Amino acid sequence: MLSSTLQDAMNEQMKNEFFSAYLYMAMAGYFQSEDLPGFASWMRVQALEEMTHGEKFFNFICDVDGRTELRPVAGPKNDFTLPVDAFEYGLEHERFVTERINKLMDLAREEGNHAAQIMLQWFVTEQVEEEASFSLIIRKLKRVEGDGRGLLLLDDELGRRTFVPPAAAAGG
Ligand SMILES: [Fe+2]
Ligand SMILES: [Fe+2]
Repeated sequence: MLSSTLQDAMNEQMKNEFFSAYLYMAMAGYFQSEDLPGFASWMRVQALEEMTHGEKFFNFICDVDGRTELRPVAGPKNDFTLPVDAFEYGLEHERFVTERINKLMDLAREEGNHAAQIMLQWFVTEQVEEEASFSLIIRKLKRVEGDGRGLLLLDDELGRRTFVPPAAAAGG
């Protein structure tokens, strides 16, 4: 059972997750245009993960006999001046998502919706990881600032990230 308030908030968050996928694909395009295929690949993996986050909301709404509503997704920012700007923009976006997830959790608590709280708990943990991974890459980018070789090494490192489907991921 989903209250109409919680259902509305979950549909809105589903949209935010799909928007995240759209934003990170835009960043993949930016990195591709900068000849940084490793960064682009990292962003593609990030976008795939965000699609699975959107699906988690979709599945949950269906499982509790709610009604899904796919809302319009805004156009993302496509251009950045420097690689670090893209990651800083991404970190800001992740902080916004964390805030939304926290608000959703508050709502689920107020309503005493235990199933929703357990489902949202996964997202609370995930957001800690999301912010941490963006922050770490920002620190690494700042460390190699102006050093082309350092940037290429980082490109190599990020290019090794692979997409782990949610069923195989811990806690997914
Ligand atoms: Fe997400
Ligand atoms: Fe995210």
